[in-house]
Amino acid sequence: MEMMEGLLTRRSVRKYTDQKIDKETIREIIKAAQYAPTAHNKQPWEFLVVDDKEILGHLRHIQRWTSFAKDAACVVFVLGDINQSFSRAKENEHWSFVDVDCAIATENLMLAAWAKGIGTCYCGAAPMQKVVDDLREYLHLPENIRPFAIVTMGYPAETPKQPEDRYKEEKIHWGKY
Ligand SMILES: Cc1cc2nc3c(=O)[nH]c(=O)nc-3n(C[C@H](O)[C@H](O)[C@H](O)COP(=O)(O)O)c2cc1C
Repeated sequence: MEMMEGLLTRRSVRKYTDQKIDKETIREIIKAAQYAPTAHNKQPWEFLVVDDKEILGHLRHIQRWTSFAKDAACVVFVLGDINQSFSRAKENEHWSFVDVDCAIATENLMLAAWAKGIGTCYCGAAPMQKVVDDLREYLHLPENIRPFAIVTMGYPAETPKQPEDRYKEEKIHWGKY
């Protein structure tokens, strides 16, 4: 799939067939995520792939907008390692790029999946603190590992409607605001 076509046609897919996704395909998709840009090239991420139906079905109790995860072929949790990210924790400076880096990787993941005919839906975790805490506990993640996003994945059993033209000329400011 040509890149521009992929960017414009990717839509959230929330209905999936029963077809499994083979491990090599998942690896290639995650490889694309790992090629995303990161602050100071820290690549502060890990990926947890889960296809256990009990876990997929339980997710809606942690993040209420994930009811369709139970029918996904798998879920990829995009995890940020706060110890690895470009960050500052000084008296007057407190910031970390971990969520930004994970967000870009998540988009790469979804676009790579789409290029292979696989549908995804980004389901938010961070920065919803309770969701982050509950996921960390449920998935037995160490303290430095921040569950950033829950990406459901599967071969599409629906063709989501393409949106009205999202291009808005008035959102672009040329030269000055
Ligand atoms: C940060 C973020 C969190 C999201 N969380 C959810 C979610 O919890 N459940 C869901 O069904 N969709 C979720 N979405 C998907 C959006 O609803 C979807 O991207 C948006 O409606 C635009 O549709 P499109 O992805 O088909 O272009 C999320 C998307 C983003 C970027």
